[in-house]
Amino acid sequence: MLKKIQETANYLRTKMPFLPKVGIVLGTGLGELAKEIKIETEFSYTDIPNFPISTVEGHSGKLIIGYLGDVQVLAMQGRFHYYEGYSMQEVTFPIRVMKALGVEILLLSNAAGGMNPEFEIGELMIINDHINTFPEHPLRGKNYNELGTRFPDMSKAYDPELIAKAKEIAKKHNIRVKEGVYLGTQGPTFETPAEYKYFRIVGADAVGMSTVPEVIVAVHANMRVFGMSIITDLGVEGKIVEVTHEEVQQVANSVQPKMALIMRELISSL
Ligand code: HPA
Repeated sequence: MLKKIQETANYLRTKMPFLPKVGIVLGTGLGELAKEIKIETEFSYTDIPNFPISTVEGHSGKLIIGYLGDVQVLAMQGRFHYYEGYSMQEVTFPIRVMKALGVEILLLSNAAGGMNPEFEIGELMIINDHINTFPEHPLRGKNYNELGTRFPDMSKAYDPELIAKAKEIAKKHNIRVKEGVYLGTQGPTFETPAEYKYFRIVGADAVGMSTVPEVIVAVHANMRVFGMSIITDLGVEGKIVEVTHEEVQQVANSVQPKMALIMRELISSL
């Protein structure tokens, strides 16, 4: 794995105009932000040695190096989901490569189902903690001390300072944001009503099929992490309706300008 990471990082490094300290995983809800990046160089995932290839609808696969405002960023347009069949090492490989390239702060977005009864469709949730229910752990197996410690602390996985800043930015712009716990599940099924209830009972505010593996690896690699969810549907008793991927995309699209604004200002405040 170490050799692969180095090989990929070396390949990219020679072709990159600069090495950004900020990495962004443009999940559902951050397509808008991608449009604001002044692109200097981009790589299709298919052209990057050792990179898996994204297959799911609505996620194109490109690594973008450019400027967001004045800030140099390295952005993944499209991520790898466990439900697509990748191993956890594959899902999180790009995060390892980001770290090898010098990224220190990682921002992520996703779409999620809301289980907190106070949530509404189309709201934003700042992730302040997570629950990992994936059946495979990204750090399982031999630990490479060069990458991080064997038993990483997860007590502040989501950087409190970044959360505070994001809340300030949201307040300044009159954007209503919630804060809560994201539960990562393997999917690809959306939850049954009983599963939503179960996830709520164990302490989650929102549920989705991504983010947790990347965050674990980023924390292992000692990166500062900030994540946000768009609540695209509700897993609240009495409010559960049929949900489709298209609807999830649609809600996410309508809310993304707000999330993009918060992310953009957060990045420029770093
Ligand atoms: N469950 C899991 N993943 C999701 C959901 C959901 O309700 N909505 C968007 N992604």
